[in-house]
Amino acid sequence: MLVIGNWKMNPPTLGEAKKLFLAVRKGLRHRPKYLELVVAPPSPYLSEIERLSPSQRIALAAQATSEQNPGPHTGEISVSMLKSVGVSYVIVGHSEMRARGLSDEIISLTLKVILKNKLTPVLCVGERARDTNGDYFSLVETQLVRALQGLARKDLKNLIIAYEPVWAIGTGKNATAEDVSEMNLFIEKVLADQFGRPVARNVRLIYGGSVNSRNVDGLLEQSTTAGFLVGGASLKPAEFLSIIKSTNQHAKKHLAKN
Ligand code: PGA
Repeated sequence: MLVIGNWKMNPPTLGEAKKLFLAVRKGLRHRPKYLELVVAPPSPYLSEIERLSPSQRIALAAQATSEQNPGPHTGEISVSMLKSVGVSYVIVGHSEMRARGLSDEIISLTLKVILKNKLTPVLCVGERARDTNGDYFSLVETQLVRALQGLARKDLKNLIIAYEPVWAIGTGKNATAEDVSEMNLFIEKVLADQFGRPVARNVRLIYGGSVNSRNVDGLLEQSTTAGFLVGGASLKPAEFLSIIKSTNQHAKKHLAKN
């Protein structure tokens, strides 16, 4: 299982970012045994935060990257730069970036660059709103097909897909466990159609959108999610630690059962 804390454009200073990270680190005591724990701070904080996590007990993600290789691209940050400061995961296609014009074409190119550099992409997909005739499924399908075009089967081994319905992000209104499982099944089918069932079954599907300490257990017990992409709650150490603890315990139980 996987828990990623997406700090977005928070906190406002490096000092506060370090404090937040240290509060989470201190609250953990041990490395959670049954999950991968990741935080995604804003890029200017990455190398300082990396120094606070020497054993990578908490791994680092970048919130975005350029699809370009290093060169004359003012304002951009390349995957190789992120890699050199200890980043191992990169979020791609977050809805807050799609809303500001990030295109499917750039998302697809970015995925390829991340995979080429051997980092793990976390591809975000999700509908803006739900309609009664199920059009949101075809929207998610289009996002997936366009993002993954040109990838080989072996590329999917390192891919994580986050289902993040836009209506659930930062609204306090999470998708139900049933919504998540239904969408996971659909995503798996779209992947299977393109890459074959064995490949599709091994892609990790996580959920994001108003995950907190109160809804995490229900989502873990009643949905097929393999983890969470957590925004707002990852800025509150007690909340985030509680999500981590629940997910770790769930993963442990699940492992014992199988
Ligand atoms: P949220 O954000 O947990 O604040 O809803 C999730 C995300 O945008 O990744």
